[in-house]
Amino acid sequence: MPDLFEIMGTTRSMRRLKPDPVPDDLIKKILEAGTSAANGGNNQTWRFLVVKDQAIKKAVQVWYKKAFDEVIGPRYATQAPPPGITGDKYKRQHSAVEYLTEHFHEAPVWIVACLVDGPNPARMAGASIYPAVQNMLLAIRALGLGSTLTTRHMLYAKEADAALGLPDGVHSYAILPIGYPMGKFGPVGRGKLSDFVFLDKWEQPYPAVAES
Ligand SMILES: Cc1cc2nc3c(=O)[nH]c(=O)nc-3n(C[C@H](O)[C@H](O)[C@H](O)COP(=O)(O)O)c2cc1C
Repeated sequence: MPDLFEIMGTTRSMRRLKPDPVPDDLIKKILEAGTSAANGGNNQTWRFLVVKDQAIKKAVQVWYKKAFDEVIGPRYATQAPPPGITGDKYKRQHSAVEYLTEHFHEAPVWIVACLVDGPNPARMAGASIYPAVQNMLLAIRALGLGSTLTTRHMLYAKEADAALGLPDGVHSYAILPIGYPMGKFGPVGRGKLSDFVFLDKWEQPYPAVAES
């Protein structure tokens, strides 16, 4: 198994997935990795809905696609590529995003990461679920499976949560569509560290990352 740093460096969004089923013992491992993460006060207000039912996935996909058609698609069509991403790469990402949108419900299994409503204001709330989500993405990669962190369904949060059958007071924060990837894992593409990291003062270069 690759070491942790190699896994982190190659945990890319894998949006094209095979229909082959994912064994439950692997899903269990992924969930164990998720719940190893920190969460505020160790209150464990997280909940994870494993979804295999095609009808439920399709009912959510309708909102996920609506959000693409109305917001995300037009944004990709008009926005310049982000730092470190060439125009070609951005186009390929757009087409992969579109592919996942059309095939969202065909991923053999989803893990929907949820939180029970708590006292934290909106800006803090996600901090008790996204470490678990990232742990699960790393575990998925380590097991040779593929996934993508998706949150777009939240543009229609009420409708998507209703389609998922979530009770009052529980909200979804991410959907991980999981399956065996069609493509190969490769290195993640980001901008240079020196574009994002400062020392002591905003925009003051940190010499340790000058070359990276
Ligand atoms: C908060 C967040 C929300 C995201 N939501 C979606 C989504 O709804 N659909 C999708 O296809 N990708 C989504 N992504 C994946 C990003 O687009 C992706 O991580 C980014 O383009 C970098 O590509 P990489 O993961 O292949 O390195 C999301 C990522 C994050 C961190």
